[in-house]
Parts: sequence; structure tokens; C-alpha cells
Amino acid sequence: MAEHIHPIHEQLVQRSEREAANGHRGGVVWLTGLSGSGKSTIAAAVERRLFERGVFVQVLDGDNVRNGLNGNLGFSLADRQENVRRVAEVAKLFAGAGALVLCSFVSPTRDIRATVAEIVGDDYLEVYINTPLEECERRDVKGLYAKARAGEIKQFTGIDSPYEAPPDPFLDLPTTDLTVEQAATQLIEALTPRLQLP
Ligand code: PPS
Repeated sequence: MAEHIHPIHEQLVQRSEREAANGHRGGVVWLTGLSGSGKSTIAAAVERRLFERGVFVQVLDGDNVRNGLNGNLGFSLADRQENVRRVAEVAKLFAGAGALVLCSFVSPTRDIRATVAEIVGDDYLEVYINTPLEECERRDVKGLYAKARAGEIKQFTGIDSPYEAPPDPFLDLPTTDLTVEQAATQLIEALTPRLQLP
């Protein structure tokens, strides 16, 4: 635990003022699903469309976090927990600034996602990118499933590391029945009233 750290007692700019200036509420939209399920693609499509509507929106995903902030972490369950914990803390700061943060992480277990929910609190909106393992493996966009099956990658989610589907997400997107644009539309339609988006 950090010692001799004194939280700021008086904030001169309130979150409500930031949200009024942005024209919408902040929030943390947490996309969970298997590798190759479509999390990053859907998050990028939503980010693009909301940005064009004037929303203060930012994607956080493995590509921009595991290379930098979390570059010292691997894929054991303990490292995944730490990966996601740090991202949740960053996302909380963004939401406090009134941003809509789209977090795209495998975040494979209920325990790991419970950590996020605890850190982020009422801002947490869980979205299940619901793509079956067989479909992710058939797509195998990055060739990682073939490597995992060959034993060249260990602790690969869905192969020799667990994935627990969320039982009660804010939104369930079954991507085998949806195009990327349809999935993005469903997510935007669910978020619009919730976060009072323009
Ligand atoms: S986690 O579980 O939330 O900490 O994972 P995340 O930060 O989202 O990183 C997942 C991406 O890392 C690549 N990768 C692996 N995924 C799962 N298991 C193992 N062992 C692994 N090794 C590398 C993979 O490309 C994931 O990318 P996505 O975008 O999910 O396909």
C-alpha cells in the first residue's frame, strides 16, 4: 500500500460540470469475449461512430495497453487479473473526466470482471461479445488458435485457460448472427439513453 498519500479533498471542477460540457454522461463499457470474438473491431466501429456524433470517447484494449502500461504482464490468471485491474483504474479516471471508455479485454473469469465492477462501480456496463469458441477458432484471424492447439502458445483462453461467459451482461451481442455494423448499432442504441448520448 502507498503511504503518505493524501487524496485531493476539494475538486474545483466537478464531474457533473465536465459531463454538461461534453453533452453526455461518462461510463465504462467493458467488452468481454474470447480472443478473436470481435471485441476490438466492434469497439473501434462504435468509437468511430460516436466520435462523429461529438462524443468524448476512447478505446482501451490490449494493443494500446499491453505494449506500454502493462508491458510487464503475461497471460497467467494472476497477470490477467493485474492487467484488468490497472485498466479498470485507468478507465475510472477517464469516466471521472466524463469520457465514454470502451474497454476491450478478454477478461476471462467472473472473478476478474468482479474486480472491474468493484473498481468502476455504477459506471460499469458489461457487454458480452458472444462468439462461440468454434467460430473464433474457425476465423483464427491472428493464427493464435492454431499455435495454441500445436502447444506453441500456453495458457490460451478457451484452449488451456478458462473462459467463463458473463451470466447477466448489460448487453449480449451474438456475433454469428450480426455484422460488425449491426453489433455496433445495437451497442450504440443501448448506450444512447443510458449515457444520454447526443
Ligand atoms: S486478458 O485476459 O483480458 O488479460 O487479455 P487481453 O489483455 O485482452 O489480451 C488478449 C489478447 O492477447 C493475445 N494473446 C492471448 N489471448 C489469450 N490467451 C493467451 N494466452 C494469449 N496470448 C496472446 C490475443 O491476441 C488477444 O487478443 P484479442 O484481441 O482478444 O484477440
